Amino acid sequence: MRPVVIAANWKMHTTPADAGELAASIAAATRQPGVVRVICPPFLSLEAVRRAVAGEGVEVGAQNVHHEASGAYTGEIAAPMLAGLATWVILGHSERRRDAGETDAVVNRKLQRALASGLRPIVCVGEQLEDRDAGRAEAVVSAQVRGCLAGLDAESLLAGGLVIAYEPVWAIGTGRTASGADAAAMSAAIRAVLAEVGAGTLADAVPVLYGGSVTAANVGEFLVEPSIDGALVGGASLKPDEMAGIVARAAVTATARAVVEAASRPADGPA
Ligand code: 13P
Repeated sequence: MRPVVIAANWKMHTTPADAGELAASIAAATRQPGVVRVICPPFLSLEAVRRAVAGEGVEVGAQNVHHEASGAYTGEIAAPMLAGLATWVILGHSERRRDAGETDAVVNRKLQRALASGLRPIVCVGEQLEDRDAGRAEAVVSAQVRGCLAGLDAESLLAGGLVIAYEPVWAIGTGRTASGADAAAMSAAIRAVLAEVGAGTLADAVPVLYGGSVTAANVGEFLVEPSIDGALVGGASLKPDEMAGIVARAAVTATARAVVEAASRPADGPA
């Protein structure tokens, strides 16, 4: 059974002085069974968030990591520096692809570093509006997944807990979202690529999240889809009330999945 994951991408918001309070409010507002909660603040706020959510079952992630473990890379952050601060990392977010020139090949190297360092990766993919309008959204996203996973074996991807976030670029920060059906179709396309890499096991095991203008009001449209396993939330993740609604809806899906799973398990023996 795949976990239901709600990951907060705080982007370039909060300071070390205010991040802890916000994280504590979100943790308190989202105490729901069965949902994996992750907060990804800016690097400088990782320590404040880690302290604030200690004992709350909320996990902490970075928004990026360099592909080398150390070296002459001014201004960069290496995986060993995150030890004790973060257990997850977002890779290849479209804002980094746009602003820092990250390509699938770069994301691939970062993914290798994350896996080698025990950071659970959330690899982001998503098409531009012109790709969707031209009917090539699935081809573009499939190629991104292939490029990001190139050369990696299913075993290490499974062991590393790979998560993929489908974030259509035109839906990020715009208030527009993909439809649940379109997101589910894209999730199926992503799983088809995962099946190329590692047969059915990888395709079945990897959580696929939707991201792009997710709010408490619209998250249900995605979570009702069996192939969507949660959300990567931007703007709304800075608002405890929104996060409370999003995680509460995610808990409904997590509970329903647990019931189906329990019912499909063979009985322990004769009654
Ligand atoms: P918004 O939820 O603000 O659209 O951002 C989505 C996103 O980029 C999450 O990584």
